[in-house]
Amino acid sequence: MNNLNNKKILLIICGGIAAYKSLETIRLLKKNGVTIKTILTKSGSEFVTPLSITSLSQSKVYQDLFSIENEVEMDHISLSRWADLILIAPATANTISKLANGNSDDLASTVALASNKKIFIAPAMNVRMWDHQSTKLNINKLRTYNYSLIGPEIGDMACGEYGEGKMSEPKEIVNILENHFKNLKVKNKFKAIVTAGPTHEYIDPVRYIANRSSGKQGYEIAKSLQKKGFETTLISGPTNLEINSDINLIKVKTAEEMFQSTLRNLPADVAIFSAAVSDYKVKETSKTKIKKQDEINLQLEKNVDILDYVSNHNSLRPKLVVGFAAESNNLENYANKKLNEKNCDWIVANNISNKLIGFDSDFNEVEIFYKNNKRDKLKYKPKSEISDELVEKIINHLN
Ligand code: CTP
Repeated sequence: MNNLNNKKILLIICGGIAAYKSLETIRLLKKNGVTIKTILTKSGSEFVTPLSITSLSQSKVYQDLFSIENEVEMDHISLSRWADLILIAPATANTISKLANGNSDDLASTVALASNKKIFIAPAMNVRMWDHQSTKLNINKLRTYNYSLIGPEIGDMACGEYGEGKMSEPKEIVNILENHFKNLKVKNKFKAIVTAGPTHEYIDPVRYIANRSSGKQGYEIAKSLQKKGFETTLISGPTNLEINSDINLIKVKTAEEMFQSTLRNLPADVAIFSAAVSDYKVKETSKTKIKKQDEINLQLEKNVDILDYVSNHNSLRPKLVVGFAAESNNLENYANKKLNEKNCDWIVANNISNKLIGFDSDFNEVEIFYKNNKRDKLKYKPKSEISDELVEKIINHLN
């Protein structure tokens, strides 16, 4: 099945010797049934001509930001909305920098900034430029803006040097785009909510009470759910993690905010409570910073237990409620206790005394406790794989 057939792709060609490869990219995309429009940057036109592009793409090449002819036919905003996807290949260090910083001084950068579509970039540049700290920072920024990177590859460069910076081959680029459309087709009818990360309960503007939690396992679960076609909402306490924009990410700080946000996003078919919610909050948060010489007398009160509340709710309770338990001892007893007392369907428990797993680690080992006294062990592996397996079990259960 060809997932590119009838897709609309806006190809942006920037200036670089690799621009010659864009003709082959166009040929392959056309062969797969793609409708292509092309933007050729000023420096791109030093390497390939509009005529050769039009001959292969059988459509117009857009070059100027302020062209009356283009504005009448299709203005830059419509152009950015027309496409199912934008591909920037080759993407130069200069264009990458413009995109990372939100500049819009030519048609290519303006269209990218105005776009609400998925953007793929295939960088092509000299190895030193690619290795430069500023390029690295720009690329990381773009990743957080949900740009996807294709390549670059390691190899001989046109300038005679050897290293990373070569644009990926058109065949590889087209394969990746094909895969992207294939993955989009996987949709199921289920909605999922995941809570993740710690909560911060403020003592004063600079101090807070929190549980240890990186949020990694929860973020991986959200990714696995989204990959499997769940409409996924991730309600996250403060973390340093990023996630792709197909997941509805709601950032919160306190347990109360996490609670309210969870309620607003119900109903759902499955809710997974992986957050390390602080059990206590400060009764009265000081509006000003408490000074060292001040007497501190913290009065704490209990936070609402989000899992318990949702799990015991008549109308809001999802079909499947999954809680987490991080325990340092007596894992089985505590996990079963939480399973029953919080009325959840499954408890995913891990042993935090095992230094190889949990908290900041990318690895985990968990045991799933079910209502019917059965249990499953997911042996030591990356958190991403633990999540994939957990989500497989969720799908089987919901079906
Ligand atoms: N949980 C929650 N809201 C809270 C506290 C916990 O939703 N205010 C959820 C967690 O996300 C997790 C489960 O409850 O899924 C268990 O959390 P945990 O902190 O291990 O359990 P507690 O009930 O707080 O018990 P204890 O701290 O005594 O182990």
